Amino acid sequence: MNKILTELENRRAVARMGGGQRRIDAQHAKGKLTARERIDLLLDDGSFEEFDMFKAHRCVDFGMQDQQHPGDGVVTGWGTINGRMVYVYSQDFTVFGGSLSETHAEKICKIMDMAMQNGAPVIGLNDSGGARIQEGVASLAGYAEVFQRNVLASGVVPQISVIMGPCAGGAVYSPAMTDFIFMVKDTSYMFVTGPDVVKTVTNEVVTAEELGGASTHTKKSSVADAAFENDVEALTEVRRLVDFLPLNNQSKSPTRPFFDSPTRVEDSLDTLIPDNPNQPYDMKELILKLADEGDFYEIQEDFAKNILTGFIRIEGTTVGVVANQPTVLAGVLDIDSSRKAARFVRFCDAFEIPILTLVDVPGFLPGTSQEYGGVIKHGAKLLFAYGEATVPKVTVITRKAYGGAYDVMSSKHLRGDFNYAWPSAEIAVMGAKGATEIIHRQDLGDAEKIAAHTKDYEDRFANPFVAAEKGFIDEVIMPRNTRRRIARAFASLRGKQQANPWKKHDNIPL
Ligand code: HXC
Repeated sequence: MNKILTELENRRAVARMGGGQRRIDAQHAKGKLTARERIDLLLDDGSFEEFDMFKAHRCVDFGMQDQQHPGDGVVTGWGTINGRMVYVYSQDFTVFGGSLSETHAEKICKIMDMAMQNGAPVIGLNDSGGARIQEGVASLAGYAEVFQRNVLASGVVPQISVIMGPCAGGAVYSPAMTDFIFMVKDTSYMFVTGPDVVKTVTNEVVTAEELGGASTHTKKSSVADAAFENDVEALTEVRRLVDFLPLNNQSKSPTRPFFDSPTRVEDSLDTLIPDNPNQPYDMKELILKLADEGDFYEIQEDFAKNILTGFIRIEGTTVGVVANQPTVLAGVLDIDSSRKAARFVRFCDAFEIPILTLVDVPGFLPGTSQEYGGVIKHGAKLLFAYGEATVPKVTVITRKAYGGAYDVMSSKHLRGDFNYAWPSAEIAVMGAKGATEIIHRQDLGDAEKIAAHTKDYEDRFANPFVAAEKGFIDEVIMPRNTRRRIARAFASLRGKQQANPWKKHDNIPL
């Protein structure tokens, strides 16, 4: 018996070595951790249960039968993050560059199937040279099996991708279908075709970093949701995100102890809005003051900064926040901000996370570049997302809510449950100056008359009361009491039940 036990230990030791010490050293020399070290950091101590440690590839071409590494380049299994179950796969770059073979794919598919069956998130740590070149179409088939599961799992369990090395070719499409993508600065990149192919086809000379590094994908393409300094920080932040999320679409977000009174009064909010309506202020300050313990997990911080998206907790429970940011482009809605916010709203709705919307929006950005770029369709995405969302929706208008953007930003008409406004709110079809220049065009040459008309329009519409008189605003609230008001609102909505008409699925303007 002892001999068999020793044999098991020996086999495990071989599997744990992946592609061998030389390649592990090379991985470390690049500033990257190994697949197993990453899992150790991601999961609670000692919680990892591995599957398929000895699984081997079946390829016999190109001398592959003589090159076997137990586990075949990916470590899979489940464990816990702060006591809550997650499934994880971690590609091992030391084995054939983490490339995906048929059996490697089978291992990933197995934990994805189990995650769906048992209702727990899937976290993929990606570090791979793409399809295992020696396996040809078997490897492509393996990718497609993973893709199919990504699609079926979407909206059922949260899926998180961390890009911790190369991610090229079709390999980018599995992360692309997951809910969140995180990258590690300087060591990870994602692209459909690498710099060499780009050079051949388009004659562009570009580095891998410029083409698909963390900066490109968090600031330009918006493919990635955040970038971190190194593996350790990335994995720590994934743990922090998982703490905000429900395990699946049938379970509620976790509620955790909080040490911040829901009735906390924030006097400073009474003076947050500057006297000059054109002067910006930082909406993030409001979010931090409303959140339990000032904790805000921002998503896509570096993209479309004119809108803020992310998670906070109110009374210990997760709330998704969407907020116009007046410090960037006056908080205007445009193509990028509409897309960013729409995707976030849909994630929250899919996983029953209530949504807080903070509104200070001068409208949609005008111009040819926006129209040619399809702002009509992209803006409609956000409109559609709010309109279909059935989760509790609480809206606070702090200042401007002009035009179509008023409608879009979780207005009463899109089934907002609580629509509050601060006394500084201005709810109108457009700003007073623009409105006057249209409806009093005949007086345009007379500055005095125009000033009088503008004042008249401001007096009539630059306030929340016209909307409140119509019941479109439920209550005009004191800024300092906002945390208490929204906490009570969300508490009252805990039992909310709302359904949309039966359909196979909707046809959101993509
Ligand atoms: C098999 C691979 C491999 C692959 C790397 N290796 N990629 N083995 N299939 N796709 C092996 C290398 O032979 C090497 O083995 C080890 O992994 C490390 O690779 P290096 O090149 O030494 O590392 P590095 O210099 O860091 O470069 C990493 C890399 C490069 C940029 C990923 O290896 C590379 O360009 N690989 C090919 C990428 C590629 O074209 N993949 C196919 C994409 S098409 P040894 O034994 O020396 O350690 C695709 C289609 C999917 O994915 C479509 C799905 C729909």
